[in-house]
Amino acid sequence: MNRDQQIKKTEEFVKENLKGYDSGHDWWHIERVRGLSRHINEKESLADPFIVEITSLLHDSADSKFAGDKIEEGYARIEEYLDRNGLEGMKERVMGVIRNISFSKKSPSGDLSDPLLHLIQDADRLDAIGAIGVARAFNYGGFRNNPIWIPEDENGKSTVGHFYEKLLLLKGKMNTETGRKLADERHDFLEKFLEQFYREWEFSII
Ligand code: ADP
Ligand code: NI
Repeated sequence: MNRDQQIKKTEEFVKENLKGYDSGHDWWHIERVRGLSRHINEKESLADPFIVEITSLLHDSADSKFAGDKIEEGYARIEEYLDRNGLEGMKERVMGVIRNISFSKKSPSGDLSDPLLHLIQDADRLDAIGAIGVARAFNYGGFRNNPIWIPEDENGKSTVGHFYEKLLLLKGKMNTETGRKLADERHDFLEKFLEQFYREWEFSII
């Protein structure tokens, strides 16, 4: 298999894996993260473009929120995929990214200084803020049947609460200069959204 074929094959593997996730984690999320990763890498040359393609495609293929306690099985499936398709040489780095990318990860492992991780993590985080971030958050909240907002709640029980728990913190966690620039504009949009949201919410107490 040449590189183009390996990319095509990986796309198919990822599409198959994503079945059952909410639509905020759908194929379009993967496409956006791939595009953002490419963009950051073009600006900063942090990693070989081929490994950026493969890793951005696979980054959510073992998401713990959906795999539950089967997360290790998810990792094993990806490793097996890499072994079987001539990608074993990049296994360690790809798996390092997949294991460490999540914001919610309590116990990171492996090499946290890999520029590939920094790059893909920024791309994934950028897709959680801005207009698309707002759309994904409410989509996820709807999927879980969470309330859109509970006044005074700032610890994530509602979707607006999730902004405080996570989304508003992402700008300060960007790893790359290009990521930081893109995050600035997207963060401003979150703040504007919240301002307007609260202005409209005021009518609930009349
Ligand atoms: P990551 O895997 O990068 O840590 P998640 O998988 O937790 O991120 O989140 C993926 C998407 O789902 C993001 O857009 C995030 O904002 C959204 N999301 C996750 N948890 C919640 C929640 N409790 N309420 C609303 N949106 C959520
Ligand atoms: Ni993702």
